[in-house]
Amino acid sequence: MARRRQIYEGKAKILYEGPEPGTLIQYFKDDATAFNAQKKGTINGKGVLNNRISEHVFTLLGNIGVPTHFIRRLNMREQLIRQVEIVPIEVVVRNVAAGSISKRLGIEEGQQLPRTIIEYYYKDDALGDPMVSDEHILCFGWAAQDELHEMADMAIRVNDFLSGLFAGVGIRLVDFKLEFGRIWDNDFSRIILADEISPDGCRLWDMTTNEKLDKDRFRRDMGGEVEAYQEVARRLGLMPEGADSSVLDLEVHRKLRDGK
Ligand code: TMP
Repeated sequence: MARRRQIYEGKAKILYEGPEPGTLIQYFKDDATAFNAQKKGTINGKGVLNNRISEHVFTLLGNIGVPTHFIRRLNMREQLIRQVEIVPIEVVVRNVAAGSISKRLGIEEGQQLPRTIIEYYYKDDALGDPMVSDEHILCFGWAAQDELHEMADMAIRVNDFLSGLFAGVGIRLVDFKLEFGRIWDNDFSRIILADEISPDGCRLWDMTTNEKLDKDRFRRDMGGEVEAYQEVARRLGLMPEGADSSVLDLEVHRKLRDGK
């Protein structure tokens, strides 16, 4: 069988040509990076969990009318998506101070922000994804004014929805990163949500203990990454008793690793 064509390889995912024009297959790797890939590692089973968590979140967002690139999950590590032209901006939404905002502005981690903040980062690995303002985005044409409005509006809708979703399972949505893409219809384009939503790009804290259930466990060498991602999946109802094959796979893996 001919090997399918790889379109792009990122730090945590690979994109392959899809079965129909305008589609791609998004493959979730176990690779983890932090600090612009200065720190590299593997979180065993992460790809399976992120594929499942992102499927769930994008499906729910689609149900409330947020347009996304997600079409359907294909298997444990792959989902079928719409091909988009990625807007080279990472949109970060913050509800609680943590990470770079705490460091940069000296705000204690865990402090609830008086209002939700949206930040933009220019996607450029060589530059280390610098923070930019809407002025820079418009000046350099990375997105148009109406696109910027659309992305900000969608980011707020996603934040409101996800804050509630996670609060319902005892998790505080501290912050998260979104990426958007354009789909073209002749000369007209529209913006849809792309990439993934998973513990790789969100800060998720247990509401009562403040335990971190996200990639900060990897960034900060805390250990227990797989267990944390599994806990998020479990609380979202994605790892029921009697488990599906992806869970079984993870369970087998864990038993082999732990010798149990
Ligand atoms: P930060 O505090 O490091 O700026 O991160 C804010 C949020 O954005 C956090 O949930 C992690 C996520 N994020 C990414 O997904 N990719 C990135 O490259 C960065 C810097 C942050």
